[in-house]
Amino acid sequence: MKETNTEKLPKHIAIIMDGNGRWAESHTMGRILGHRKGAESVRIITKTCRRIGIRFLTLYAFSVENWLRPKAEVRALMNLLLEYLENETREMMDQDIRLTAIGDLDSLDAHIRSKLYEIMEKTSENQGMLLNLALSYGGRDEIAAAAKRMVEDAVAGKIAPADVTRELFSKYLYTTAIPDPDLLIRTGGEYRVSNFLLYQMAYTEFYFTDLLWPDFGETDLLTAIDEYQRRERRFGMTSEQIGGR
Ligand code: IPE
Ligand code: IPE
Ligand code: MG
Repeated sequence: MKETNTEKLPKHIAIIMDGNGRWAESHTMGRILGHRKGAESVRIITKTCRRIGIRFLTLYAFSVENWLRPKAEVRALMNLLLEYLENETREMMDQDIRLTAIGDLDSLDAHIRSKLYEIMEKTSENQGMLLNLALSYGGRDEIAAAAKRMVEDAVAGKIAPADVTRELFSKYLYTTAIPDPDLLIRTGGEYRVSNFLLYQMAYTEFYFTDLLWPDFGETDLLTAIDEYQRRERRFGMTSEQIGGR
């Protein structure tokens, strides 16, 4: 097994899991089977992240835009999500993984939502790693929802315009308790963010791969991390200032 340098390990990895449909097509299968195979990758990647000591893993499982897909595909994705939640609870407990979710969770079916809340509650004390699922998630929607709640607080007299800083604003986002991602991985060969974590990715390192999500395995994750560890994160400063040269 390839080993990871534990120095400069990303604390938070976010993944846009793309390419299930094309994977299915290339295996002359229906798209749904591609999603099923994609769920396998979720299990493997989650386990690997936990093993090597990643603290936060955010997986883009369903975007607000994905509601626009054919009804049968949306239904199948929701069924897979439910199946995943039911099957993985034990594993999450065994591996000390805490589950959280971000997105417009109210738009999910009631039975999925209640299962999700049940597992979130059950795993809430787990400390090993935080697995954060982005469900019915949209970055612009998140920002607009944060602005809305902020205005409500202002109208209620809880905050004044002078209180508004980026730190305060962050507290109104879905990710309030989670640090910004250090590394974003997108599989499936597209070079775009597709409305994912727009506010939080201001200084995230991006890693794109042509591999389709069902083909993305442990070694591929370690390769992405390896590349991340060789980058110099300057945050606007010079290389000299951050001790690079
Ligand atoms: C990603 O795979 C899974 C979801 C968006 C839910 P896709 O279904 O987008 O796969 P491609 O892009 O069509 O290959
Ligand atoms: C992004 O993939 C969303 C998820 C992986 C859940 P899409 O396949 O929906 O993205 P676009 O539509 O190609 O940008
Ligand atoms: Mg896609």
